Amino acid sequence: MTSCETLLLRLFQMKSVRGVVVGAGVVGLSTAVCIAENLPLCSVTLLSEKFSPNTTSDGAAGIVLAAEFPDILLERQRRWFKDSFDNLLAIAQSEHSPDAGIMLSSGWQIFKEVPTNRKPFWSDFVTGFRTMTDGELKRFPDHKFGQAFTTVKCECSTYLPWLKERFRKAGGRVEQRKVNSLQELSDSFDFIVNCSGLGSKQLVGDASVYPVRGQVLKVDAPWLTHFIRDGDGKTYIYPGIHSVTIGGTRQEGDWRLHVDKGDTDGILDRCSRLEPSLKKAKVLSEWVGLRPSRRNPRVEREWLQLQGRMVPVVHNYGHGGWGVTIAWGTALDALELVRQCLKEMPQQAKL
Ligand SMILES: Cc1cc2nc3c(=O)[nH]c(=O)nc-3n(C[C@H](O)[C@H](O)[C@H](O)COP(=O)(O)OP(=O)(O)OC[C@H]3O[C@@H](n4cnc5c(N)ncnc54)[C@H](O)[C@@H]3O)c2cc1C
Ligand SMILES: *[C@@H]1O[C@H](CO)[C@@H](O)[C@H](O)[C@H]1NC(C)=O
Ligand SMILES: *[C@@H]1O[C@H](CO)[C@@H](O)[C@H](O)[C@H]1NC(C)=O
Repeated sequence: MTSCETLLLRLFQMKSVRGVVVGAGVVGLSTAVCIAENLPLCSVTLLSEKFSPNTTSDGAAGIVLAAEFPDILLERQRRWFKDSFDNLLAIAQSEHSPDAGIMLSSGWQIFKEVPTNRKPFWSDFVTGFRTMTDGELKRFPDHKFGQAFTTVKCECSTYLPWLKERFRKAGGRVEQRKVNSLQELSDSFDFIVNCSGLGSKQLVGDASVYPVRGQVLKVDAPWLTHFIRDGDGKTYIYPGIHSVTIGGTRQEGDWRLHVDKGDTDGILDRCSRLEPSLKKAKVLSEWVGLRPSRRNPRVEREWLQLQGRMVPVVHNYGHGGWGVTIAWGTALDALELVRQCLKEMPQQAKL
């Protein structure tokens, strides 16, 4: 084939398979990049109401660790974690680290009571996971047990624009608008990927999605280089590239997006008990986000009848407090689900 013929074939096929990813948080952008880079014969549009810096993902503390979801095979959760971690680690160790806002982060997760499961399912994937010594625990008199490890931290307000650029370079198109129903997409696209986070509640009518409110502060404390996280998930100190993120709150079903003074005081108080030097830190900003929570994230596909046509929809939402951690892993799953849908499509070019 001449290069001209190849180009024509490409153009023809690009016209023949058009996909849309809804949502430009860390889940939507990761999914859009995975699809655009791995299915070069598809034309992919990223459609979203909000973009960085206005998504939930932007304010996430961005540390890579996770709790277990109750009903998803542990093997699958392990794969989500490992695929994500390896992807982010490779970026952190490359020249792209500052542009992508991905860094290595070492520190401690400490527990007031010894947890029944002393080794989380991801302990073999992060680097250097070990139980803290009594000597190390001495500085945390309220805590009985701790784990030390090195993981990755994402500055999402840097990472999201970087992913968007990567998506554009892979040929992706970006469009800003709110989608009111999946129906309105069925004319223009052959497959739909739903990464709308909390928006799924309305968009897909999924009543099992609910907000878990989180408030965090960014403080200036460049002397802090190690993270400290209470295993209860409510109090944490995460040094980042430009500031230290301290938090937090986990308020289920709470939709308030404004900063709560009581929460600010509580965060400062709890965090300076773990790290007294924070009393000297200047507060740079305060932020509230709503974690798009669900008993389990929904990463699955279905065929929907939209305006008389059967259209494949791949869902990828409901990552709760762990969206940064598992975004890449679930994006690879979503890519595989898109591939399966394309195979089932009649008369489509095999991709
Ligand atoms: C305080 C706090 C700290 C956190 N810390 C961490 C952490 O340390 N590690 C971690 O892994 N996770 C953390 N999280 C969780 C993480 O932020 C979420 O899991 C993640 O952001 C979810 O990403 P998402 O892409 O699904 O959703 P979002 O970032 O909310 O993106 C959803 C996108 O969909 C778009 N959308 C929705 N509805 C529509 C519609 N109808 N039409 C068009 N577009 C639509 C939105 O505009 C947006 O672009 C934290 C969260 C909070 C609040
Ligand atoms: C983010 O929100 C602000 C305030 O609503 C708006 O002015 C800005 O254009 C938004 N940014 C993007 C990239 O959408
Ligand atoms: C996303 O999924 C939710 C839940 O099924 C649905 O209500 C919504 O319409 C879907 N959105 C898109 C864009 O597919």
